[in-house]
Amino acid sequence: MRLAVIGFGNVGRALASLIERQRPSFPFRIVAIHTARHGTAYRDDNSFTDPVFGPPAASVDEFLDLADAEVMVELTPLNPATGEPAISHVRAAFARRMHVVTANKGPIAHAYALLRDEARGAGVCFRFESTVMDGAPVFNLVRHTLPGVRVLGFTGVLNSTTKIAIEAMRDGKSMQEGIEEARRLGITEADASFDIDGWDSAAKTAALANVLMDAMVTPQQVDTKGIGRLTPERMAELAARRKTACLVSRARRTGDGIHLRVRAEVVEETDILASVRGTSNLLLLHTDLMGTIGTVSISPSVAQTAYGVFSDLVGLLDCGSSM
Ligand SMILES: NC(=O)c1ccc[n+]([C@@H]2O[C@H](COP(=O)([O-])OP(=O)(O)OC[C@H]3O[C@@H](n4cnc5c(N)ncnc54)[C@H](OP(=O)(O)O)[C@@H]3O)[C@@H](O)[C@H]2O)c1
Repeated sequence: MRLAVIGFGNVGRALASLIERQRPSFPFRIVAIHTARHGTAYRDDNSFTDPVFGPPAASVDEFLDLADAEVMVELTPLNPATGEPAISHVRAAFARRMHVVTANKGPIAHAYALLRDEARGAGVCFRFESTVMDGAPVFNLVRHTLPGVRVLGFTGVLNSTTKIAIEAMRDGKSMQEGIEEARRLGITEADASFDIDGWDSAAKTAALANVLMDAMVTPQQVDTKGIGRLTPERMAELAARRKTACLVSRARRTGDGIHLRVRAEVVEETDILASVRGTSNLLLLHTDLMGTIGTVSISPSVAQTAYGVFSDLVGLLDCGSSM
């Protein structure tokens, strides 16, 4: 299966290395890579774990035409305000009847229903497991293992950068030191204020609601406040009362619609929401037939994000039967 990759940063490189390691067992081959500043690389004796980039393609359309791939993998940075240019990249691939796998939550948070329908119209698959909780099953969990279940809401601690910043402040360090620590781990959005101000969580909340609850919302419709007002002093005060803070995403379906919220909440240290540390994430799905069911990802790194993309690629191998 030939892959054209747009965006080759932390996730793209980890994916290329994973594909290389799994090459004996799985038929995936990166045939072209397009980036913003590094340029474009096409096959022709190129090693795609360490590609040599040439001049950039004039446009994504030209890139996809020359790549001659069956799958477009979209790994550009999140633009939480619009979801672009990733949405246009996805559409350009559908227009060429290419399957799409993305770790970029922009398209799912801003235009999921439209893109899902466009994929169906083009007879291709659209997969995005890594957009929330890296490689831990969330969308595929519901798709493959919870038939007949209706998701009524969810509660999640979904942003690793804010968790690490909060933990740093509990240790008496500054918010900025926590952000730098998260950046060293490769998990921070290109602009860390997207994490701190809650935009990343709002995008994940919108993405989950769009896919699991047919919400048709954008991140702007999530009632969002980030962790910007937390300080080391406030965290010390909470710790003295055996409490802490978490940036929590909540969704609830009521008679008058779906309510979505992101807030820095004060919780007991023993609360399940506070039980995951470091980069670990947690999501509880509240359902009609299965009560509350959870998924936890312990200390994920970019390797798990790459696995989420890889798991979607493996899913494409029998995509025709599960669009
Ligand atoms: N890192 C994680 O652990 C993680 C986890 C879950 C989801 N994600 C999502 O995965 C995506 C990729 O994350 P990352 O950490 O790999 O990002 P990154 O390290 O910042 O890399 C982004 C890549 O996209 C390229 N790019 C930027 N704008 C582009 C454009 N308009 N056209 C073509 N290429 C463009 C950049 O090109 P240059 O190299 O030339 O600048 C770079 O290669 C993001 O949407 C992120 O939210 C990441």
